[in-house]
Amino acid sequence: MKIKNSTFVISAVAKSQYPENHLPEFAFAGRSNVGKSSLINMLLGRRGLAKTSSTPGKTQLVNFYDMDGLFRFVDLPGYGFAKVSKVKKEGWGKIIDTYLNEREDLIEVFQLVDIRHKPSGEDKNMYEWIRNCGFNGIVLATKSDKLSKNQVAQQIAMIRKELKMEKDAVILPVSSTSRDGKYEVWDVINALFEA
Ligand code: GTP
Ligand code: MG
Repeated sequence: MKIKNSTFVISAVAKSQYPENHLPEFAFAGRSNVGKSSLINMLLGRRGLAKTSSTPGKTQLVNFYDMDGLFRFVDLPGYGFAKVSKVKKEGWGKIIDTYLNEREDLIEVFQLVDIRHKPSGEDKNMYEWIRNCGFNGIVLATKSDKLSKNQVAQQIAMIRKELKMEKDAVILPVSSTSRDGKYEVWDVINALFEA
């Protein structure tokens, strides 16, 4: 799939702000700084569509991006950002919960984890949460450019085990820097789109 026009739609806090026209949505979840916004840009070959930052906590709302009027990408706020207050953290849970549970247009959730590290408790909770909401949860192991090929394979096996992924569950290494995994992710999206 080649997207000609990708545009930012809205940053939403409340459900009432979600786009009203029905289009399939693919969401990206994961710890703050894991590379969600960068990945959206990489998939589209766009630099600054989704705002990225080396300071964690850049994306705090649910950001909707329209893809040629055919479907949407949804950049979810990251978790595990120590500096946000408890009140804000609770707000975060509610925002994600509302989106995952009440969004009828949501087709699938991509969960991003850093390929270099063992999934955190929060990563495990998020994966379970996605699964409990009835989604497959496609795991994308980010920043694969930081590791050698051998290390990538090892870390993928480790993450699979740590997240207790089922045999046929999908995990892919990706890199926004080297564009590793770009076509594999698009293959997954295409398959979901056709299903
Ligand atoms: P929040 O919006 O805070 O939740 O973060 P995010 O998950 O959207 O992360 P973002 O895309 O803003 O990236 C965070 C940092 O990681 C930035 O400094 C990026 O340049 C860097 N980064 C993202 N993806 C990659 C990657 O594939 N490889 C490398 N080496 N760095 C990356
Ligand atoms: Mg972001």
